[in-house]
Amino acid sequence: MKKSVLILGSGGREHAFAWSMAKDKNVTKVYCAPGNGGTAQVAENIALNLSNHQEVVRVVKEKNIDLTVVGPENPLAKGIVDIFITEGLRIFGPDAYGAQLESSKLFARDLMAENNIPHPDYYSCNTKDEAETLKAILELPLVLKADGLAAGKGVIICENDEEFEKGLKIMFDSSIFGDATSRISLERCLVGEELSVFAVCDGKDYRILSSAQDHKRAYDEDKGPNTGGMGAYAPTQLLTPVLLDRVGLEIIQPTLTVMAERGHPYRGFLYVGLMIVDGKPYVIEFNVRMGDPEAQVILPLLKSSFFEILWHA
Ligand code: AMP
Ligand code: GLY
Repeated sequence: MKKSVLILGSGGREHAFAWSMAKDKNVTKVYCAPGNGGTAQVAENIALNLSNHQEVVRVVKEKNIDLTVVGPENPLAKGIVDIFITEGLRIFGPDAYGAQLESSKLFARDLMAENNIPHPDYYSCNTKDEAETLKAILELPLVLKADGLAAGKGVIICENDEEFEKGLKIMFDSSIFGDATSRISLERCLVGEELSVFAVCDGKDYRILSSAQDHKRAYDEDKGPNTGGMGAYAPTQLLTPVLLDRVGLEIIQPTLTVMAERGHPYRGFLYVGLMIVDGKPYVIEFNVRMGDPEAQVILPLLKSSFFEILWHA
């Protein structure tokens, strides 16, 4: 029987999701909440406040929606999946525990450290004084990373003492990241090629959708401020078959194993941000959702049904 799908979010990523679902033979009706002008062309937009999880649940029940797919990280971090599970409703995304892989940089780093998942050396740091002491150990250049969600802007790369002092002030004295900076991860700065790998996970197993690279700077010719991504391309030739095997064996599978052992099997997209250093993949970050704009270039490459992949996961 054909199924109805609700997509949560309002970006280009959600437009790509809705576009894929709308042309799928398994899908009878696509809703998007709150959606945007693009999703309105392929789905029915529903005006919903995504932070009101009970309201989302009410709409899903009222409209008999078979599968809900979460676009952005915030509802995941706030536990929308936990509520759907309690209600016996089908949703694709990790629970709030699993979402900490993105919502707490230090949760993710500690998990990597405890399970030999390759990552840059790092320290958890609560004060400026601590950071100054650690600078002597790790040495510049260093990366300061706000622990909590900061909409892709919580990272400061410090090449010299001046940038380090300025970075610490931003992290600890200003309120631009809100609660995100009660702690930071102070990290060794890796130098290499960056790429992202996207997997769909079902709690114990995974399938790679594709790799991609996004363009971060706001203006042409790689100039201007950093953004969440102005555009992207997929796949990237940086991801050789050998490297892909290593990413699976050394990063994705151990992450799934430990999450299952902790009683929170990881179901959802796993977005692995990688830096390739001397041919070896290191995790720069985990995100618990698809990339935006990466979804827009990855989904059109899929030969199989996007709906079926998510439904069975
Ligand atoms: P994130 O939000 O963790 O992806 O960080 C944003 C960007 O900062 C990444 O895409 C990298 O370019 C850079 N970055 C983050 N952590 C590191 C690190 N330890 N070494 C080098 N670059 C980093
Ligand atoms: N394009 C980067 C991200 O989705 O986080």
